[in-house]
Amino acid sequence: MSSNPSFSDSTQLDPQRLPTHVAIIMDGNGRWAKKRLLNRIQGHEKGAETVRTIVRTCRETGIAHLTLYAFSTENWQRPKVEVEALMVLLKRFLVEEQSELMENRIRLNAIGQIERLPESVREQLHRTMHLTAENRKMTLHLALSYGGRSEIVRMVRTIAETAASGGIGGGDITEETVSRHLYTSGIPDPDLLIRTSGEMRISNFLLWQIAYAEIFVTDTLWPDFGREEFLAILQAYQKRERRFGRVKE
Ligand code: FPP
Repeated sequence: MSSNPSFSDSTQLDPQRLPTHVAIIMDGNGRWAKKRLLNRIQGHEKGAETVRTIVRTCRETGIAHLTLYAFSTENWQRPKVEVEALMVLLKRFLVEEQSELMENRIRLNAIGQIERLPESVREQLHRTMHLTAENRKMTLHLALSYGGRSEIVRMVRTIAETAASGGIGGGDITEETVSRHLYTSGIPDPDLLIRTSGEMRISNFLLWQIAYAEIFVTDTLWPDFGREEFLAILQAYQKRERRFGRVKE
């Protein structure tokens, strides 16, 4: 989707039809770097700048929840130097963004296998989450060591344990029970899922939660993604008719 200057004004959006929750698969940092003969880590550094821009744009637009796929369970299999660099970048982001998160009343949350993160990253994550816990204007959810399938396994195990101890009968398990046992318990499902860099894949992201999300895939690589294109996608989203499996009235 090409950027169009007429889309750069967030006041053109209908505040009544904004997505409550936007989820983003940030892809293409490596390709962005390769195109410029840079190393992959430099691509991730530029990608972190895009994260800042998109968080600001969401806050400005009035989006209540933004979930970013920052590190998947599969990403642990990348070369050690790349994993370490991503952890350094993440920690730096958490430290440097604290004041902006506070100024803009943005709460930070994390979903995923947080226990697998290095201790120093985990500690900083908990500090930033604790500091921002009372902020109510927007929530930024970082998916870290996140995988949709492992989230589902974790949910099934917890419900099975409750059932085994007589806490719930099989017939009493509903969609609501399942939702309540996911990392995203209490968070509305994403209305809009964006993926950058052109791949037509879900990549194990929010498998249960995106059941009715509107999907937008852009060829733009994540480091090149920005405010204008994000606003253009919001405008296009507002033109889509969401039927949730029903027919038009
Ligand atoms: C995908 O690009 C991106 C990632 C695996 C990590 C996303 C991380 C960031 C945007 C930076 C740090 C995050 C925060 C929250 C500060 P890729 O490496 O798979 O790209 P490629 O497919 O072109 O190789």
